[in-house]
Order: sequence, then structure tokens, then C-alpha cells
Amino acid sequence: MKIIRTVSELKSALAEARSHGTVGLVPTMGALHDGHLSLVAKARAANDTVVVSVFVNPTQFNNPADLATYPRTEEADCRLLEGAGADIAFIPTVDEMYPQEDTRVFDLGPVADVMEGPMRPGHFNGVAQVVSKLFDFTRPTRAYFGEKDFQQIAVIRRMVELQGGYDGLEIVSCPIKRHSDGLAMSSRNVRLSSEQREVAPCISLTLKASVNMARERSLEETRRWVTDTIDRFPFMKVEYYEIVDGLTMQPVKNWEDTEYCVGCITAYCGEVRLIDNITYFNHTTSDAK
Ligand code: PAF
Repeated sequence: MKIIRTVSELKSALAEARSHGTVGLVPTMGALHDGHLSLVAKARAANDTVVVSVFVNPTQFNNPADLATYPRTEEADCRLLEGAGADIAFIPTVDEMYPQEDTRVFDLGPVADVMEGPMRPGHFNGVAQVVSKLFDFTRPTRAYFGEKDFQQIAVIRRMVELQGGYDGLEIVSCPIKRHSDGLAMSSRNVRLSSEQREVAPCISLTLKASVNMARERSLEETRRWVTDTIDRFPFMKVEYYEIVDGLTMQPVKNWEDTEYCVGCITAYCGEVRLIDNITYFNHTTSDAK
């Protein structure tokens, strides 16, 4: 595996690779875990060349403390990527990615106006900035994103539509990887104390239980039950639980108002902000859940 730190080196390595095959890109912020590695495995299976970017993108952090404490584990990341069969780890500095301030403001529209949008002002614009740069530098055939950040995938699709020019690019959305107790894998989990780590699976367990409840209760009752149930656990505070249309991200009021219904949650466990989601139903595809 090649470790590349500059954009010019990345571009020349890929010009060669692209001439004789497909390129899969897995954008990450490092502190890699099995969730990331499952994306790398998918990319490896489908592409001739696999690039994994490891970059803690400052423009998407609306909270300086979150940026400062974001785990950085470059050596371990490189070992994991080597083992997972990546061809290139692209690990730029902030100056390399942003030689000058990125002042672009993306018109991300309604998908970015709800949930994480108002809760983390500027976050999705920062994601669009960095992902568009990564796409420009890499020109991937396929790019892989985890469904834990469910809304982010809709935002990235919107950015691709806005930017144009990424002809043939396939955005591949990959299922959430979970620990055996159900907690969604996240780089932030390492910041949980051992007591908090024991409690945190209440998020996914409650979401899962709510799927059965959805058969008998209204959407609003289900939504409230999830919030109240999780809030009763020690350390836990739900920031929001929204049940949305899985394509538009807009909150729905009744189960029958959508064909693709997803519950998206953000909850604090102590100081650690955790996100997760669950699909209630998806009648838009043949592999409907
Ligand atoms: O999901 C993430 O880890 C980040 O938001 C991403 C897509 C790598 C952009 O920095």
C-alpha cells in the first residue's frame, strides 16, 4: 500500500490506475474500525484500485472541542488499511486540502435543512466541500459511505447533482456495522467510559423494539416512545428522533405518508454524541426490509 500525502502525487498515481481500470474511493476521517473496513472490503471486491482517504476535515466541525478531541490514530489506520487490501492511503494535511480558505457555499436544499442541518450549522457544507475536493482529486468510479450517517449520503448525492461533471460516479451506500450488543460502530465510541459503553446499546435496542411497536401505534406515539425510553437510561439524552422519508429526509406524520420510512436519532451518552437509524419499511426497492 502506498501512503500519499499530496494532491499532485495522488493525481499522477490515479491517472495511471484509471487508464486500466476502475477506482473505488472510501472517504474517512480515520480512527478506523470494522465499519470502515467493511466499506474498504466492498470497494476492494468491486474495483481495480482502492483509495482510502484519512482526513479529519476541520470545515465540517461546528464544535471546536469536538474537532480537538476527534481521535487520530494514523499508524494503526495504515496497518488496518494495508491488511484490508487498500492500494492507496491518501493522508493529506489541512494545508494540502485547503491551500486557501474554501468559501464555497453549496445549495444543499431540503435534505440538509432538517436534523443534523440545524443541529450542526455549517456541518453539511463542510462535508460537501471536502467530499467534492476528494472526488475532484480522485475521479472515482465508485465512492463508499456508511449508512450510519444516513442523512450525509443524501447530502452527498445532492452535492454530486449540483456540481455535475462526475459522470458515471456511483455512490454506494453500505449497511451499518454493529458491535455484538447492537451499538453502531463509530470512531466516537472510544470516548465512552466503560459505564457509558454498557448503556449506549440502548439506542439500537430501542430502535429495534420500536419496529414492532410501529405495527400497532401511530408514528407520533412511536417517535415519542423511542425518545422517552432512551431518555430514561443513565447518561442518555436524546437530541432528536425524527421519522423521515428515506429519500427526501423530510419528517413524516403518518406511516402511510411515505414508501420508505427511516427513524434517525442523535443522542448524547454523557458528552459523546452518537447517531444511529433504523428502517421501518422500504417499499421503493425489490429488497424492501
Ligand atoms: O463520514 C465521514 O467520516 C466524513 O463526514 C467524511 C465523509 C469522510 C467527510 O469528511
